[in-house]
Amino acid sequence: MSSKPLQFGVLLLPSYQLLDAVGPFDYINNHTQSYLKMCNIPDAIANKGAHIVWHFISWDLAPVQPSSGPPQNPTCTYADCTPLDYLIVPGPDPTAPLPAGCAAFLQRLMAADTFKALLTVCTGSAAAAQSGVLDGRRVCSNKYVLRVLAGAGALNRRVRWVGDARWAVDGKVWSAAGVTAGIDLAAEFARVHFDKEVVELVKELSEYRPNPAQPDEFARILEGVDLA
Ligand SMILES: *[C@@H]1O[C@H](CO)[C@@H](O)[C@H](O)[C@H]1NC(C)=O
Repeated sequence: MSSKPLQFGVLLLPSYQLLDAVGPFDYINNHTQSYLKMCNIPDAIANKGAHIVWHFISWDLAPVQPSSGPPQNPTCTYADCTPLDYLIVPGPDPTAPLPAGCAAFLQRLMAADTFKALLTVCTGSAAAAQSGVLDGRRVCSNKYVLRVLAGAGALNRRVRWVGDARWAVDGKVWSAAGVTAGIDLAAEFARVHFDKEVVELVKELSEYRPNPAQPDEFARILEGVDLA
């Protein structure tokens, strides 16, 4: 791994699903040198771990109330956040409008050459789609929500929604379907970006066998629903 730390953001939207954020960022953070050393993993392996700086982003620094649990403290704002390499968007209420400044923040980020990928979890994709940055991309979302939105004539059809996969990767857009698929997406992210030995070790530490994108048993939720 290069020693330049990866700048990783987590977007804290009002009422976001706590586990959509924590599952993926904790799984990814498990691949860092500092975490592996904390677990007393021998240096020979731990030194192959990643360096990550985490940023928790909101419109101001007031604590954000997630779906459950205590309010969470942002560490930076849309205006002053350091240039990011990656951003995780956990799912909020998919029909709630984005907070002021959020769409512009996402547009700026996706247009930056140095920004490598957006990772959405569950309805995080429906929220991010409001900014236009997912237009034309193959994107997963919570399937039940996609069905409800399609039924209500409220589906954003500029996005190419994927109805039969747990996660999808299309260029800079990495998206997961439901909350548990967020950890599968994080595992796929780790497989592609991190040291192979570390990736295998973290599966054991986490006692988790990541699911592939397909087959997806929940694809049945969207059977007969026109997503195009
Ligand atoms: C990260 O690793 C610890 C064990 O070191 C494990 O308990 C935890 O579940 C892992 N995180 C995730 C999201 O699996």
